[in-house]
Amino acid sequence: MNIGHQCCVFLSIFLYISECLGEDYDLDDSLGLGQTFDGIGGLSGGGATSRLLVNYAEPYRSQILDYLFKPKFGASFQILKVEIGGDAQSTDGTEPSHMHYENDENYFRGYEWWLMMEAKKRNPNITLIGLPWAFPGWVGNGENWPYRFPDITASYVLSWIIGAKKYHDLDINYVGIWNERSFNTKYIKVLRYTLDKSGLERVKIIASDNLWEPITSAVLADKELLDAIDVLGVHYPGTKNVPGALKTGKKLWSSEDYSTFNDNVGGGCWARILNQNYVNGKMTATISWNLVASYYDNLPFPRDGIMTANEPWSGNYIVESPVWITAHTTQFTEPGWKYLQTVGHFTHGGSYVALTDQRGNLTIITETMTHDHSICIRPPLRPYDVIVQNATFHLKGTFASISQLDVWHSKFDFKTNKTVLFQKLKPVKVINGSFSIELDVDEVYTFTTITNGQKGRYPDPPHSAPFPKSYRDDFDVPGNFSEAQNFADQTGVFECFTNLTDPGPHGLTLRQVVTQRPITWVADADQTISVIGDYEWRDLRVSCDVYMEDIQTGGVFVAARVDKGGGFVRSTKGIFFWVFADGTYKITNDLRGLTVFANGSSGTRARVWYTLTLTVKGNYASADLNGSSLWKNTVFLKPSRGWAAIGTSSFQLAQFDNFVIEAE
Ligand SMILES: *[C@@H]1O[C@H](CO)[C@@H](O)[C@H](O)[C@H]1NC(C)=O
Ligand SMILES: *[C@@H]1O[C@H](CO)[C@@H](O)[C@H](O)[C@H]1NC(C)=O
Ligand SMILES: *[C@@H]1O[C@H](CO)[C@@H](O)[C@H](O)[C@H]1NC(C)=O
Ligand SMILES: *[C@@H]1O[C@H](CO)[C@@H](O)[C@H](O)[C@H]1NC(C)=O
Ligand SMILES: *[C@@H]1O[C@H](CO)[C@@H](O)[C@H](O)[C@H]1NC(C)=O
Ligand SMILES: *[C@@H]1O[C@H](CO)[C@@H](O)[C@H](O)[C@H]1NC(C)=O
Ligand SMILES: *[C@@H]1O[C@H](CO)[C@@H](O)[C@H](O)[C@H]1NC(C)=O
Ligand SMILES: *[C@@H]1O[C@H](CO)[C@@H](O)[C@H](O)[C@H]1NC(C)=O
Repeated sequence: MNIGHQCCVFLSIFLYISECLGEDYDLDDSLGLGQTFDGIGGLSGGGATSRLLVNYAEPYRSQILDYLFKPKFGASFQILKVEIGGDAQSTDGTEPSHMHYENDENYFRGYEWWLMMEAKKRNPNITLIGLPWAFPGWVGNGENWPYRFPDITASYVLSWIIGAKKYHDLDINYVGIWNERSFNTKYIKVLRYTLDKSGLERVKIIASDNLWEPITSAVLADKELLDAIDVLGVHYPGTKNVPGALKTGKKLWSSEDYSTFNDNVGGGCWARILNQNYVNGKMTATISWNLVASYYDNLPFPRDGIMTANEPWSGNYIVESPVWITAHTTQFTEPGWKYLQTVGHFTHGGSYVALTDQRGNLTIITETMTHDHSICIRPPLRPYDVIVQNATFHLKGTFASISQLDVWHSKFDFKTNKTVLFQKLKPVKVINGSFSIELDVDEVYTFTTITNGQKGRYPDPPHSAPFPKSYRDDFDVPGNFSEAQNFADQTGVFECFTNLTDPGPHGLTLRQVVTQRPITWVADADQTISVIGDYEWRDLRVSCDVYMEDIQTGGVFVAARVDKGGGFVRSTKGIFFWVFADGTYKITNDLRGLTVFANGSSGTRARVWYTLTLTVKGNYASADLNGSSLWKNTVFLKPSRGWAAIGTSSFQLAQFDNFVIEAE
């Protein structure tokens, strides 16, 4: 079906014939320019969305990073936003804080430092942003709120910015307040003051990483707040702003957007919002949640990154369509370019933007995404129509002398699967300042004077494969990162630990280090838990050496068929085998311990190593302590599958060693 031609007939009868021949669109800088373009970005974190990326072997890891960051290669991101780890669950896991405790500082935890360095290595111009989702408990002094002592929170954030420079030579360009939570006017002013006092006037503040209101009204009503803030950053604006936003005179950014499964519909969503965030909302930067889907698929929001890299064990990764949609803008612009005022909607649906470096270069990006093929997960959009149409662009002002433009093309074809992504076509001749193009539905074009765009490509990565059925980690090879390979912390933080005073067989272990409930972003569990493996696992044996450090409240577990993570972690079910420092054990059906299959005495105590082994097969489970049977019985079927896990019964120090899985 070609609705375009049907419509053409329809229009020629009932409207006027020129509709069929096409519409005219002027691109002109003679009446001045629009806003300054600030870039297209990806967000790592909020939370733990890049968790599995660091575990990829070379050359795959560098290839993925090239697809994300290398200029003129793939997505060529212009902005990297990262979570300032706060030790708490922030969507797909926890990210470690640089200050677990008040007198503790360590700028080598987690992978965000590394990611920022890898991005910077590839694109020294990349804009860096940090934003907290959560904070260690001490920052709130027991309250689940970071603003009671604004100076403490500000100096905590300041230390992260200073540490980035001191230990990694990273200049953080922007910092945010508290992701998608309330802001506090006093705190924002104190943060500005704290940065300035430390000679960091160049670090700009984004507020409030939530909705347009109440931040817009607050900024308009308070001169000091207005001066403290540089960017109004909103999340999932649906391409719209509010009347007061432009009045603030601040940059308007969609500082978190997309959050959509990265198939071709996701690519369509991304194409539409990249253009229309400016056309409709005058937003000059758009940041994708998330950068790269490097977390287990059964965690919340699977594959909401612009590409997928969640199989470090196989090396497989997938360069998804949003990578190439990003390239349509990023490979032919730089932050600092100006949008033209002459941008807008096509008469028969879709939109166009145009940008210039003010030195004669021009980049035009068009998108004609149909509703069904560009649905973003949030927020839902009202249906709108796009049909095949002709467009004639008239280049005026500085651009009148352009005689030829490079052309890059993507087309999503949902009927034949003959989708083309970021294909270079023959340059278009500009005759007497004009060129015409027939725009089909679900297409993206770039027309540009920039001639060195490139569709980067590496040989196909290895085939996808499930997590190995037989897996062990003795935590004896200290990696470059604080976390152990493939473990995805869901509450608490598990770190590679060197036992300096007691080197011996347990000299190198994995240690849960969060000892106080953090200022949370979602409802973290009251226990800590880190998951690993294949969500489809049913029957397996999981074994781990455990060491409780806490004499009073010590309690640790190994688990199988663990069914949840992310913001649902409190209601996680599975088969949990616990031992406690008071000499007891428990077998429970859930993390909270509401359903107890069995309990009894184990003789376990703190500061002694034990080997816990849990075997689950069909409706049968058994628990061994140091190789001797402690308990065995039939168990309920539910959950019938899930990850393996380790963890503790509260926020307490505990160590783990010689983790082994044998799955069937
Ligand atoms: C960095 O920015 C400068 C100034 O705009 C530009 O000349 C240079 O090409 C940019 N480098 C990269 C790798 O984009
Ligand atoms: C466009 O940009 C390129 C480099 O990106 C530069 O060499 C050239 O002078 C610019 N101006 C025009 C009119 O192409
Ligand atoms: C676009 O213009 C071409 C050439 O004039 C014409 O053949 C074609 O039918 C037009 N397409 C539409 C959708 O009007
Ligand atoms: C197109 O691709 C999708 C996903 O691979 C597949 O499910 C569908 O059957 C394909 N359609 C056609 C017409 O080949
Ligand atoms: C370009 O414009 C000039 C003057 O308006 C006109 O004489 C000429 O025919 C035009 N050329 C084309 C190819 O349209
Ligand atoms: C650790 O870092 C070094 C230096 O950056 C690098 O050569 C090595 O490959 C890294 N090792 C791992 C396991 O990532
Ligand atoms: C097992 O649980 C029951 C019921 O809560 C309790 O009365 C008993 O003391 C527990 N036994 C041990 C050894 O903890
Ligand atoms: C369990 O084994 C460890 C050595 O792995 C030993 O230190 C500990 O005493 C044993 N505990 C019991 C109760 O046998």
